[in-house]
Amino acid sequence: MPRLAVLFLGSLIVVLGAFSTRLDKTPTLPATPYDYDGIALPAHLEAIAVSIEDNTPDDNPVTDAGATLGRVLFYDVRLSQNETVSCGSCHLQDRGFSDPVSFSLGFEGNETARNSMGLAFARFYRSGRFFWDERAETLEHQTLLPIQDPIEMGMTLPEVQARLAATDFYPDLFEDAFGTPDITSDRMSRALSQFIRSIVAPNSRYDQARAAEPSTPLGQALDGLSAQENHGLQLFFGPGRCTLCHRTDLFVGDEPRNNGLDAEVTDEGAGGGRFKTNSLRNIALTAPYMHDGRFATLGDVIDHYSTGVQDNPNLDIRLRGAGGQPIRRNFSPQERAALIAFLETLTDETLATDPRWSDPFSITGTTAAPDPGINTSFELVGPNPTRGTTAFRLRLDTSTEIQLEVFSATGRRVATLLDGVQSGEVSVQWDTDGLAAGSYVVRLRNGASVVTKTVTVVR
Ligand code: HEC
Ligand code: HEC
Repeated sequence: MPRLAVLFLGSLIVVLGAFSTRLDKTPTLPATPYDYDGIALPAHLEAIAVSIEDNTPDDNPVTDAGATLGRVLFYDVRLSQNETVSCGSCHLQDRGFSDPVSFSLGFEGNETARNSMGLAFARFYRSGRFFWDERAETLEHQTLLPIQDPIEMGMTLPEVQARLAATDFYPDLFEDAFGTPDITSDRMSRALSQFIRSIVAPNSRYDQARAAEPSTPLGQALDGLSAQENHGLQLFFGPGRCTLCHRTDLFVGDEPRNNGLDAEVTDEGAGGGRFKTNSLRNIALTAPYMHDGRFATLGDVIDHYSTGVQDNPNLDIRLRGAGGQPIRRNFSPQERAALIAFLETLTDETLATDPRWSDPFSITGTTAAPDPGINTSFELVGPNPTRGTTAFRLRLDTSTEIQLEVFSATGRRVATLLDGVQSGEVSVQWDTDGLAAGSYVVRLRNGASVVTKTVTVVR
């Protein structure tokens, strides 16, 4: 019997006891591995302009068994010192693998220095460098850094190896992926990289419209989009100048650039306040925006390019006019709305729910494999939007440590509603009195499992 099938049967038995997948930290995997290596791309994403951006190295192609191991590692809290945080705690599937708060919380509750980055299409970035400041030369190099980061996970590689070796399932997963059960950090980095490179969701509304008329050149109106979306598309590829930096059907950059966020350098980034120009695919899922999460909405981003571009010695030439002055396009309200509408067509909704990329340890996850014994739930009872108090309901099968916190859209913590062991049915009221109008993220954390709800406060 293939090893994965054995693992599957094993976890079914474990799942019979409610909540035990999380307690025993045993993943539930499909009997036949998911397909990770056979991602079918529409013609416009098979084009040479896209394929030259693929940073998959010859010696680490995506395989089904390798990405399966990578998925388990990605969601495993064993990778953090006190077993509270996994990669998935800061890279949330339903947020395009980024974090709804400006700064993520590491294993001891300390904040990261920058905003988490969405991981979909990370595979397509030609230089293959990673992080906002591009300090990691390759994805294989990047994937071991969070584990050893003193804020994020706080581990050493030998400690992680020993923990994984002590489980009854990792040796089998390593053997399936690499031929022998040996657990090495090199193999961990390869498997995590394979999993991340598998996260390619090529079926946004924009992709559907492009695929329907393959002979229409990039940047021209598409029948499958509305008049407003096409207006936005034409601004993006035309007078808005966006495509000079967010290039091709990937909407991705080539090297770190300064887009005029500040007149004086507040964060050097890759030098002089230059940062990676990440793909804008699925951008509607990954708020807040920029390396420090300073913008809560896409509207705020457009306003920056419209009127906010700051002159500074490092400002990219693409955002300077003929006389050298910063370009501020002063978008009309119609243009602003059109650009937002266009950016929203770049979301592939399946990214947020595809089980291939979901948490195999999840008890509260939105997707995952069927978990018969598990019915932990977190509901927003409402009202939403609210002017005053709003309520949440939590149902827990067993006593468990819970944090329920509220963040403003730019990531400031504004309330802690629960922090401690809870069980059974728990009702929670949140009084929004004294808070400004706007949207707030309510985040439930149970170890590494994170679920968020967005509440709008009106005044
Ligand atoms: C505590 C939160 C946190 C954890 C845990 C975490 N990350 Fe991140 N991740 C971030 C932040 C913040 C950034 C951006 C940091 C920067 O650029 O300086 C980032 C950036 C990245 C990037 C760069 C993406 C790009 O396009 O350049 C990758 C890849 C990544 N993380 C993968 C992982 C993996 C794999 C793990 C687990 C081994 C992990 N992360 C754990 C917060 C986290
Ligand atoms: C000079 C190159 C350049 C131009 C022109 C440009 N951008 Fe950007 N863009 C960047 C860089 C660099 C970043 C990341 C900056 C940072 O985080 O500090 C960015 C970030 C963004 C982000 C946030 C990405 C994220 O993951 O947080 C959005 C959205 C965006 N740009 C949209 C646009 C739109 C729309 C236009 C046209 C109106 C545009 N950009 C024009 C370089 C550019």
